[in-house]
Amino acid sequence: MIPYGHQDINQADIDAVVEVLRSDFITQGPAVPAFERAVAEYTHVKHAVAVSNATAALHIACLALDLGPGDRLWTVPNTFVASANCGRYCGADVDFVDIDPVTWNMSVPKLREKLQCAKRENRLPKVVVPVHFAGQPTKQEDVWELAREYGFKVIEDAAHAIGASRNGEPVGSCRWSDITVFSFHPVKIITTGEGGMALTNNGELSERMNMLRSHGITRDPARLRANNRAPWYYEQQILGYNYRMTDIQAALGSSQLKRLHGYVERRNAIARRYDEALKDLPLQLPTVQTGNRSAFHIYVVRFQRNTLAKPYGQIFEELRNRGIGVNLHYLPVHLQPYYRNFGFAPGQYPEAEAHALGALTLPIYPQMTDTDQDMVINALHACIGSA
Ligand SMILES: Cc1ncc(COP(=O)(O)O)c(C=O)c1O
Repeated sequence: MIPYGHQDINQADIDAVVEVLRSDFITQGPAVPAFERAVAEYTHVKHAVAVSNATAALHIACLALDLGPGDRLWTVPNTFVASANCGRYCGADVDFVDIDPVTWNMSVPKLREKLQCAKRENRLPKVVVPVHFAGQPTKQEDVWELAREYGFKVIEDAAHAIGASRNGEPVGSCRWSDITVFSFHPVKIITTGEGGMALTNNGELSERMNMLRSHGITRDPARLRANNRAPWYYEQQILGYNYRMTDIQAALGSSQLKRLHGYVERRNAIARRYDEALKDLPLQLPTVQTGNRSAFHIYVVRFQRNTLAKPYGQIFEELRNRGIGVNLHYLPVHLQPYYRNFGFAPGQYPEAEAHALGALTLPIYPQMTDTDQDMVINALHACIGSA
């Protein structure tokens, strides 16, 4: 099976991990701050907080922004459930903004419309979480303008998008947001096994996220409430978690980061080859907006249903039977049974729902060969071309 995504681990990665394993610290040592500094430098941001996964990063980001019961978090339905669940962890109400039919990212006109309505009803969100779907940056500067106008905070869910940029600005710089979150799961652009990071230019938010990832504890003399300078002294000042990344993971991350540029180049090259080879099929292909560089975490195409003779499920299964690890990104979050309990129902977010009825994720990863890609292309032509 050609998978839809796959990590790339080389000898340098293995050596970096082994070096940490042979050192004194396999967690809470120097490799974590070194990885944080390297990512912060890459993305031109002031502070980076490494954690155990992006879900944890989203959680502490929401907590740092004081999201709590009675507050509202808005995200898109076309995402992984974690983008919404972080609001629920904090006891906040979750609501959704439909996607743009071309980029499949949060629709800014729909966000504006929903904000106007929410303002009239006194139901404005405290936090909005746009998702850089498939690695394509959202129109973040427009979201930021609305954040200034309506007073909400912004967390960029950039789980798919380390290495992407918009108008030359790297995703992660937080130029147009309060906090940005990356994932380092093996299917993502770079990996630490499991892992995530929260980035911000705000020193106070960074401090809070630092404490939240490690039990709410601080040893920083400047932050201690008691005037106690004993070397064993620490204070738990808030309720935190153990969301720490290990040094083993961080060493792998730093080693992977050195190849990030090449990974994104290769992913873009594979995407361009798909664009060319699939252009005559009845498919909507991904469109990268002017000024954007996508990280192409995934390559998603959409069937134009009325031109297909076969049902979606049949094409999906035929491709899987031919060894092509196609996938669906995403089942709309609001239609998950958990969210339906809150009253969400089909028809509420038509673009995200239409997307889920026709979207197909094709394999893309740096080590994919042209021969692998030809197999995918030929299989698609065979399954759809003959439809
Ligand atoms: C958009 C999005 N947000 C958040 C996450 C959660 O990432 P993690 O698996 O690192 O917790 C994912 C994971 O797939 C994702 O795709």
